[in-house]
Amino acid sequence: MTDSLTIKRPDDWHLHLRDRTMLAAVLPETARHFGRAIVMPNLVPPVVTGADAKAYRKRILAALPNGAKFTPLMTLYLTETTDPDDVERAYNDGIIHALKLYPAGATTNSDSGVTNFDTVKPVLERMAKLGIPLCTHGEVTDENVDIFDREAVFIDRVLDPIRRANPELRIVMEHITTSDAVDYVKSADTNLAATITTHHLVINRNHILVGGIRPHYYCLPVAKRQTHQIVLRAAATSNDPRFFLGTDSAPHIDANKISVCGCAGCFTATNTMSILAHVFEDENALPHLEAFTSLNGPAFYRLDPNADTITLTKGDLVQLPTHIPTPEGDVTVFDPGFPLKWHIT
Ligand code: DOR
Ligand code: ZN
Repeated sequence: MTDSLTIKRPDDWHLHLRDRTMLAAVLPETARHFGRAIVMPNLVPPVVTGADAKAYRKRILAALPNGAKFTPLMTLYLTETTDPDDVERAYNDGIIHALKLYPAGATTNSDSGVTNFDTVKPVLERMAKLGIPLCTHGEVTDENVDIFDREAVFIDRVLDPIRRANPELRIVMEHITTSDAVDYVKSADTNLAATITTHHLVINRNHILVGGIRPHYYCLPVAKRQTHQIVLRAAATSNDPRFFLGTDSAPHIDANKISVCGCAGCFTATNTMSILAHVFEDENALPHLEAFTSLNGPAFYRLDPNADTITLTKGDLVQLPTHIPTPEGDVTVFDPGFPLKWHIT
């Protein structure tokens, strides 16, 4: 039985770092293990222009702990008024690595997102020409569509028409939660990939709702039934280069999670690598962990893998914090529901 594994340092291809005191509190949790992360732009106000992204990157670098070697990869929030020339400049200057499409109203701080997809056509065409990836929050917001169906309907109503209109556009379906999404990625050419979160490999909707409601397991897209979870686990552990890690680690203070209208988001930055080692071991797929966390993502984003490595060793219970303090209140670290034994050095 393998009890030690050395892999290229992992990257996180979908991460929420927030700003100010929250940024300072959560950034060390990611920088401890990860070399780079695609940083989500859903701040208030959002990161919309190249200048916004440059300023936000500076704030992230300033918040890094001494000695940390972490590189934030910035994204722009796609709005109906995004200027293709600004996107091109920011990309050519090396400031941004992707744009993020939020359907307006789909999730946390998505009010500035897209309602009429025709309005973003010129930006998508420019991105296709330049090879800039589009990261999608793949859920429709139609109130008549059940929340558990919103990802599958997004594929038919929004994503597939965008891909047909822009066959060269490189797209990452973020945080996929359904077998429909896995099938769609597998049926496509190499311009389509998907990220999978740590928490969607560990929980299904029973974990949120059976025996009492568990607000810390509520995220968007919401976890689906177990049959989907099984397909996600198979995809993540399959060594298929089109699937890679994007944790969607999304910190909210407890007061905003445990509330009559709680925020969506699971905070997994602290224990993601230990959890993933456990999941891959469970699936008899430890040799495929490196591809998922450290190789497939850079290949899609046309970057080299990190030069250095981490070592995962199975041993006694891992002692990790259960809460990350911030001046506004604690952020609860995701509880996988099983003991963690994989240590990361
Ligand atoms: O659960 C989520 N939390 N899903 C998202 O799409 C946004 C994120 C957040 O920003 O809190
Ligand atoms: Zn997210």
